[in-house]
This record gives sequence, C-alpha cells and structure tokens, in this order.
Amino acid sequence: MLSLREITDANRDEVCAVRVHPGQEKFVDSVAKSLRDAASTPEAAPWYRAVYSGDSPVGFVMLSWNVLPRPGILGPYFLWRLIIGAEHQGRGYGSEVLKLIVELIRADGATELLTSYQPGDGEPWPFYQRFGFEPTGEVDGDEIVLRLRL
Ligand SMILES: CC(C)(COP(=O)(O)OP(=O)(O)OC[C@H]1O[C@@H](n2cnc3c(N)ncnc32)[C@H](O)[C@@H]1OP(=O)(O)O)[C@@H](O)C(=O)NCCC(=O)NCCS
Repeated sequence: MLSLREITDANRDEVCAVRVHPGQEKFVDSVAKSLRDAASTPEAAPWYRAVYSGDSPVGFVMLSWNVLPRPGILGPYFLWRLIIGAEHQGRGYGSEVLKLIVELIRADGATELLTSYQPGDGEPWPFYQRFGFEPTGEVDGDEIVLRLRL
C-alpha cells in the first residue's frame, strides 16, 4: 500500500536518495534536480510528493497542477516527473502512483492528464501505453506528448 507524502526537512535527504537505474537517467532527472526545477519554475505550478511504501521512500512524483497552458508549459495537468527507485521497480508501484494521481486530479476537476517522454532504448512508453495513455501527435522539444483521458 503506497502513500504520497509531503517533502520536508525531515525526509528530504531520504527521498533524494531514491535513484533510478543508471541506464534510465537519460529519461528522467533526479529527485534533487526536480526539487530545484520546482523552486526555479513557479510559473509551471509544480506540485510534488514523495512515494512511500510503509515508512520506506520508494519514489517521487511531480506534476504541473492546474497550470494555464502556454508556450513551453503543458497543462492544465501535466505529469512532469515519475520516479520509482531502481530496486523497487516492476512491483506495480508506478501504476499505483498513477492511480493515486488520477484520483486526486479528477477530484480537482481534471479531464485529462498529459505527460511526455524521451524516445530511446528502455523508454517508458510501454508503461504509459499499458496504463491507457495515447500520443497526442504533438512533440515538446524532443519529447513525445501523451494524453490520458479521465
Ligand atoms: C517507468 C517507471 C515509473 C515504472 O514504474 P514501475 O513501478 O517499475 O512500473 P509497474 O511495476 O507499475 O509496471 C506496470 C507495467 O508497465 C511495465 N513497464 C514498466 N516500466 C517499463 C519500461 N520501462 N518498459 C517496458 N515496460 C515497462 C511493467 O512490466 C508492467 O507491465 P505488466 O502490468 O504487464 O506487468 C519506472 O520504471 C521508472 O522510474 N523508470 C525510470 C524513470 C522514467 O522513465 N520515468 C518516466 C518518465 S518521467
């Protein structure tokens, strides 16, 4: 059973210690970089949580939450980072986090969740496709934009 927890001074270090496989680092930035991006990009309406299994940090998720879409900013609801720690992958955690996020944003009035991914060997597209995401046909720089209809 997973829970989403706020990141505070008390747990920041243990959440920043969650890392993906070295070969996946080209697809996603680290938790520490994500927190810096959140602080430096308030216009993207960052919202983020640590993912816990019991009392163990196993992942991180960050969205643009109800942002006004404009050039360079996808929204209103955009899944910006999803990280499950290397040793915790393949246990259904990634899908469970998406389900929790979908419940939260639906309750906030969202009708779709956007995300994007960088194509390449080991890309997360099969994961998103199984969950029901579809390509919108757009690209964001070198990333392919996906939509999940809610
Ligand atoms: C992508 C990621 C979040 C998936 O998390 P996870 O907890 O391992 O995924 P789940 O266990 O919930 O997997 C759900 C399904 O997707 C599949 N899947 C997961 N990651 C996959 C990948 N990279 N390629 C192919 N299939 C994948 C699983 O096999 C599983 O399929 P099944 O239901 O048929 O068994 C995780 O691998 C990760 O953090 N990757 C590195 C960072 C990244 O690429 N993030 C996304 C871009 S921001």
